[in-house]
Amino acid sequence: MTKVGVIGLGMMGQTHLDAYARLDNAQVVAIADADPDRLSGKAKAGGNIEGAAAGDDQLTGVARYSDASALIADDDVQLVDICLPTPLHLRFAEQAIAAGKHVLIEKPLARTSEDALSIAELAEQSDVIAMPAMCMRFWPGWTWLKQTIDQQTYGKTLAVHFQRIGAIIAGSFYEDGTRSGGAILDIHLHDTDFVNHLFGVPNTVTSAGYSHLSGEIDYVRTRLQYDHDTLVTAEGGWMAHPQFRFTMRYLANFERATAVYDIGAENALTLYEPGKDPQAVALDPHMGYDYEVAYMVECIEQGVAPQTVTLRQAADSIRIVEAESQSAKTGRSVAL
Ligand SMILES: NC(=O)c1ccc[n+]([C@@H]2O[C@H](COP(=O)([O-])OP(=O)(O)OC[C@H]3O[C@@H](n4cnc5c(N)ncnc54)[C@H](O)[C@@H]3O)[C@@H](O)[C@H]2O)c1
Repeated sequence: MTKVGVIGLGMMGQTHLDAYARLDNAQVVAIADADPDRLSGKAKAGGNIEGAAAGDDQLTGVARYSDASALIADDDVQLVDICLPTPLHLRFAEQAIAAGKHVLIEKPLARTSEDALSIAELAEQSDVIAMPAMCMRFWPGWTWLKQTIDQQTYGKTLAVHFQRIGAIIAGSFYEDGTRSGGAILDIHLHDTDFVNHLFGVPNTVTSAGYSHLSGEIDYVRTRLQYDHDTLVTAEGGWMAHPQFRFTMRYLANFERATAVYDIGAENALTLYEPGKDPQAVALDPHMGYDYEVAYMVECIEQGVAPQTVTLRQAADSIRIVEAESQSAKTGRSVAL
């Protein structure tokens, strides 16, 4: 049984609590939040994805801390799960690793690629198991895409396009781009990281975008170029009207099929093959968060370093986003 402490009880902390509650081999023993209403469970958090962040209401007998450092120092806690606003990830990840605790860190791993890399280096010098919470790598329908591309199930991948559009969460740290990094780091990073998962770090990125809400890039469209000729593009932003339904989509064209994933559709993943009716692809029932958290706990139980995503890969994904941001601001392609 892995004993868990969750720090930060916003949309993501509450979503992770839900995920731990569904596991037999993990137990939340401590929670921390500086906000007393979040800590007591009185205040719930809003988010992009319907059904996430219900908050685990079964939290009786857990230690409650207003100070994140006190949770890290709690001897009962083996795994520290950091769901704090992005600029705080570095400080508390460093503290947790220094205290010899396993650590799961929400995305973006840190506010900058430099900070993310220093977390990776620190973890590598320790015995702890540390993982960035890049949930799309565990998301049903997206794991299908990775496997389909790797195995060339329908031939070569001709093109793949990702789209992630939502509304900024008003009154939150997200509105301050110096803290959140803007939509390009906070939202679009998911797709950049998934592209990194599929094809590695690109040779160059060519982006266009604009800043309107946070002071950082709030909407971006990018082409990511490789030695191979698959056309890879992604767009993301949080400039939509608050009532706009959050969109998380991909469109993949293979030589012998087209696949469309749309989180808002009745069947999220549809496969179109020549000469056949469109076919809904059966997917695992939960969101990626559940599989991500379960994988982290399994790695701890088995004493193995996570392979599906590493801290260095997460740092690389932030480095790609920084290149995209530079490209969007200068109007020039940026080499990595
Ligand atoms: N994987 C995903 O799909 C996904 C989705 C949403 C958010 N996130 C990431 O998760 C992180 C948290 O986002 P959120 O929307 O839950 O944020 P949030 O602002 O809703 O919640 C953060 C919580 O941390 C608490 N907090 C702030 N400073 C603290 C401190 N020093 N000590 C203790 N508690 C403190 C706040 O009171 C708040 O309850 C961000 O990095 C965000 O980018 C990831």
